[in-house]
Amino acid sequence: MNAEPPDCLTAATGPGRHRATDTRRQMQADVTLLAFQHAADLARQFTRDVVRQFGMVGLVRDAELVVSEIVTNVIKAAGLTTATPSENITVRHMFKLCLFTDDDSLIIAVWDALPGYPVRQTPGLDAEAGRGLLLVDALSDEWGSAPYNNHSKVVWAVLSDVGTDPAPTCQDC
Ligand SMILES: Nc1ncnc2c1ncn2[C@@H]1O[C@H](COP(=O)(O)OP(=O)(O)O)[C@@H](O)[C@H]1O
Ligand SMILES: [Mg+2]
Repeated sequence: MNAEPPDCLTAATGPGRHRATDTRRQMQADVTLLAFQHAADLARQFTRDVVRQFGMVGLVRDAELVVSEIVTNVIKAAGLTTATPSENITVRHMFKLCLFTDDDSLIIAVWDALPGYPVRQTPGLDAEAGRGLLLVDALSDEWGSAPYNNHSKVVWAVLSDVGTDPAPTCQDC
């Protein structure tokens, strides 16, 4: 299977994710990781550092949570274990995390070459799983997934930076 990840701009703004971008203000960072268990922690750490560097401190916590849920799904679907022989590791065990901003919005885009797509669940009260995408839904302005080339996809979410405005004063109270 020939599956190459997209560049970050394509991952963040490709078909299915309409976005008018202000090219003067674009910043981006990406990391490609093996979908092993510790990759979720690396992805969270990367997100914290990059989102701070973007100057979007108000979004750090939510971005970290959204990345965590999307990446954890990839790790689960990839199914790598310490018993997987290294010769069996393929592009299906890789994912690319892109963080992109064009001004007020942060776009999180995660590429993988695994079969299947994210499907929002309706977990019962006792269910122990099925809430990850509900959290993504709650924390992001919009999110979705889109195919990329023939064999892969991008799961994306948009978060808006609302935390950097100065606190309102009481002059108008
Ligand atoms: N990157 C992905 N590739 C394939 N399937 C996915 C991916 N992300 C999510 N899914 C599917 O969407 C379902 C719902 O995800 P989620 O709401 O996080 O619940 P949970 O991870 O607890 O099952 C997953 O069980 C999985 O079937
Ligand atoms: Mg999940």
